[in-house]
Amino acid sequence: MNIILLRRGILPVAFIIVITGLFFSMRHIAIPFHALYRDASLTIDVRVEDLLSRMTTNEKIGQLALVEKNSITDTSDISSYGIGALLSGGGGNPIQNTPKTWLAMVNDFQHAAQNSRLSIPLLYGVDAIHGHSNVLGATIFPHALGLGATKDTDLVRRIGEITAQEISATGVNWNFSPTVDVVDDTRWGRTYETFSSNPIIVSELSVAYLTGLQSEFVMGTAKHYLGTGAMAWGSSTNPDFKIDQGATLLDETTMRATHLPPFAAAIDAGVNSIMVGHISWNGVELSANHYLLTDVLKNELGFDGFVVSDWNGVDEISSDKYLAMVTAINAGVDMIMLPFDYKTFTTHMKRALDSGAISRERLDDATRRILRAKFSTGLFDTEPVEDEELLTIGSPKHRTVAREAVRKSMVLLKDVNTLPLNKNFSHIVVAGSSANNLGRQSGGWTIEWQGVDGNWIPGTTILDGIKNAVSENTKIEYSDTGFFSARNERADIGIVIVGEAPYAEGAGDNEHPELSTEDLQIIKNVKAISKKTVIIIVSGRPLDIRPYVDSWDAVIAAWLPGSEGNGIADVLFGDYLFTGTLPVNWPL
Ligand code: GLC
Repeated sequence: MNIILLRRGILPVAFIIVITGLFFSMRHIAIPFHALYRDASLTIDVRVEDLLSRMTTNEKIGQLALVEKNSITDTSDISSYGIGALLSGGGGNPIQNTPKTWLAMVNDFQHAAQNSRLSIPLLYGVDAIHGHSNVLGATIFPHALGLGATKDTDLVRRIGEITAQEISATGVNWNFSPTVDVVDDTRWGRTYETFSSNPIIVSELSVAYLTGLQSEFVMGTAKHYLGTGAMAWGSSTNPDFKIDQGATLLDETTMRATHLPPFAAAIDAGVNSIMVGHISWNGVELSANHYLLTDVLKNELGFDGFVVSDWNGVDEISSDKYLAMVTAINAGVDMIMLPFDYKTFTTHMKRALDSGAISRERLDDATRRILRAKFSTGLFDTEPVEDEELLTIGSPKHRTVAREAVRKSMVLLKDVNTLPLNKNFSHIVVAGSSANNLGRQSGGWTIEWQGVDGNWIPGTTILDGIKNAVSENTKIEYSDTGFFSARNERADIGIVIVGEAPYAEGAGDNEHPELSTEDLQIIKNVKAISKKTVIIIVSGRPLDIRPYVDSWDAVIAAWLPGSEGNGIADVLFGDYLFTGTLPVNWPL
C-alpha cells in the first residue's frame, strides 16, 4: 500500500497537509522557549506585544478576571480559563495559617498558571495594608491613620519595603495598598485606612509607601478611585452600612482639588494598578464612569497601568450582570474583581465580543495594560521563593521599625504636669479594654477581615510595654475587669487604655464614635485610687471625649498601633518625645 501511495506522490502531499495542519493547530500550543516575551533583555513593550500576539481570545479574557482563591474548585481551571489573577480577601488564609502554608498555597496556584500554554504568571493579591496582616506571625504596623500622624516619609517608605519583603516571602506579588483616599467624615469605618484628611499628606505618604513597596517584585494599588472618603452620611447602598459604599456628592472642582492629587502622585510614582471605589459620584457608579476612568485617569493623567474594580463593585451598576460587565469594561475597568464566578464571566465576555458590545481593541487594550503591569513588576523573571526568606516575616528587625512607627504615631491631646511618667514610681495601676489586647491594638484587617479581639497574634501589648519599661521596684497592679478594691493609699499614677473593638469597612460606620460606658466606668475606678490618671485611646478615628476630658490629667491618641505595643511605653516614660500630630480633626 505504501509503495502505491509513494509512486503516485500521494504520500508527500498528505504528509505536507498533516504537518501544515499540525503547525497551525500547534501555533497555539508549542511556544519556542526563545519566544521574545520570555527574553528579559528586551523592552517591556516588545515583550507585551509579542505575548499579546500569541494569545487566544480565551486567554485574553482570563487576564481580565480577578478571582477569590476559594472559588477555584479545580486548579486546572486556571489554565483552561486562562485566569490571570487571584486574591485572598480579608481572612483568606490557608486552613493552617503560617508563612510556610501561605507560600505553599500561592505556589500551588502559581504552578497551575505556569503549566498553562503561555505560562503567564498569576498576580496574587492581598490587603497587606498594615503589614502582611492576614498571616499569623507577620509584623503588624500601625494602620495608615497612625502613620499619617507621623508625617514621616522615610519611615513609611521603610514600612512599604518591609511589607513587600514579608508578602513576597509568601509568594504574594500584589498588595491592594496604599489607600490614597482623603477622609472627610471620620464616622466612616475606613477612616483608619486613610493617611489623613489633608490631600498633601496623603500624596506624600502614598508615594513614600509605593516607593518602598514596589521594590521587591511586588505591585501596589492606589485605591479607591475617586472621591471615596467624601461620601454623605446615610447614603450607603448597603443596608448594613451608613456611609461606606455610599454616595459622594461633590462638584468637579472640589473633586479635582481634593481627591485627584494623591492618585496623580501615585501615578507619577509608578503605581501599576488603581482600584475603583465601591461608591457613586453625583449619581453615577464609579465603575461605570467613563469620564473618570478613561478620559481623566487614562487620557488626562496618562495612567498606563490597569484599573481594577472593587469587590462586587461592578455588580452595583446593574442587576443584569452581563450589562454591568459590558458597561464597566467599556467605561475603563480593565480587570474585574468578580470575585467568584469566572465561568459566567467568560461566557459573558465571549458573548460581548461576538456581538461587538465590547470591541476586540478594548479587550487587547485591557490585556495589554495587565501584561505590562506583570512584566514591569518582574513576574516573568522571578526566581522561586527560597524557604529562608520566610524568616524575614515578623523578624526582630522588622518589629523594631514597627515599634518606631508606634512611637512616632502617638499624639498628645492633653497633659497637665503628668507626662512623661517616672520609671521609678512605686505603684502604678493599669486597666482598660485595650490595655492587654493585641487584637484591639491592631484593629481590622488582621488575620480576619474584621480583626481578632484578644491575644491571638504574636506581639507586645501596651501593658507588656509598661511592665518592661519600669524599674524592678515598681509595683504594677493590673485588673482586666477594671475593678479595684478600695484602699487608703493612692497609686502614683493610673494608666487606662481604652478605645474601640476591631472592625473593618462599613461594619465600623458609627454615627457617634465615643468611649463605651464600660471604659468610662473603668476610668472612674482608676481615678478613684490614683493620684493622677493618663488615658490612652486606641481607636481607628477620633472619639468624642469632650464631656470628660477636663477631668483627665493627660490624654494620648495611640490610633491602632499594631503588634508592637511596647512603642507606647517608650514615649509614656520619656525615652522618646511626642512627635505625632493630628492627621484628622479631633474635637476637644
Ligand atoms: C474590599 C475593599 C478593598 C479591598 C478588596 C479586596 O471590599 O473595598 O479595599 O482591597 O475588597 O479585599
